[in-house]
Amino acid sequence: MVARPVFKIVTSNKSLLRMVGRSRLLSRIVRGDLLLLPVTQDRELADRIVSSVWVDRVALSKETAGGRFRDLDDILIDLTQQGSNPVIHDVGVSNGITSLDLLDRFHARELCPAFYISDKFARCLHVQRGLVTRVYDSYGTLIQGRVGILFADPQASWRFAGSRLLFLLLARTKPRLNGSNVIEIPLYSRSVRDALEAGAMTHLDYDVFSTYVDIKFDVVRCMNTITRKYFARDRIAAALSNLGRSLKPSGLLLVGRTPPNGRNDATFFRLVADRFVPVRVVNQGADIHDVVTDLRIQHDSC
Ligand SMILES: C[S@@+](CC[C@H](N)C(=O)[O-])C[C@H]1O[C@@H](n2cnc3c(N)ncnc32)[C@H](O)[C@@H]1O
Repeated sequence: MVARPVFKIVTSNKSLLRMVGRSRLLSRIVRGDLLLLPVTQDRELADRIVSSVWVDRVALSKETAGGRFRDLDDILIDLTQQGSNPVIHDVGVSNGITSLDLLDRFHARELCPAFYISDKFARCLHVQRGLVTRVYDSYGTLIQGRVGILFADPQASWRFAGSRLLFLLLARTKPRLNGSNVIEIPLYSRSVRDALEAGAMTHLDYDVFSTYVDIKFDVVRCMNTITRKYFARDRIAAALSNLGRSLKPSGLLLVGRTPPNGRNDATFFRLVADRFVPVRVVNQGADIHDVVTDLRIQHDSC
């Protein structure tokens, strides 16, 4: 009889992580150390580590992948009013790598947009005491941890009961989140942080449900965030109202999702008066299409 592991493990060994990355099954069992993020030059590895993180009380994944919106990027640029440099807001961008892809496409067409990116969970806090590490989101919620190489995973099925129980155990105590053993780990990728530093992009502190920004955008993109997979209809409608209020008249909204087969099911909408009108459906279209078209946007009173 073969003994089955009850723990997932964490490693910072990059060769091992690269090898494991080729197998979906092994990737679930062997996880990358978040401390690799600020230092690794391996973009694919960094993308994978960020994609394995779950946030918002572990209800929402940070899954992303460079190049995943190539088809949508070109349509978006075609639909953007030509002639001037648009103001863009990319919402819920995870490590931001797909924002950089889009910005590069604009530059290739000699357009230079004012490009804003945001993610409510753009960093996490790593707190280590001896062999025990706890990782919190920026709002102080424990999202994962480890004891030595044993991974504490709130997402683990009971197949990995050890990792699940370890998480529950670590959650019983909360250390101070401002001590010298606390490391803030940015979840934006290195190239995105470089672009932010160089002023090619601007980060906004933004919660899709509630943040008001004093900027009006020509384009708002929010992919793989406000989808039926994660939120109920009323929450999706609340987020869409908020996004709609931040758009200029005739502004473009892109929403949709990327199922595991990698195909983008998305819809482009244009804001006409107080309604969103679909202007382009890609593949199956956004799974929230009907919520968008049912909505009436209340614009700010001047
Ligand atoms: C699945 S990822 C999508 C990343 C990227 N847009 C893509 O499609 O590749 C969802 C992202 O939404 C962010 N998020 C979750 N709740 C949010 C909120 N209330 N406001 C803004 N972003 C949020 C998460 O941190 C996560 O990075």
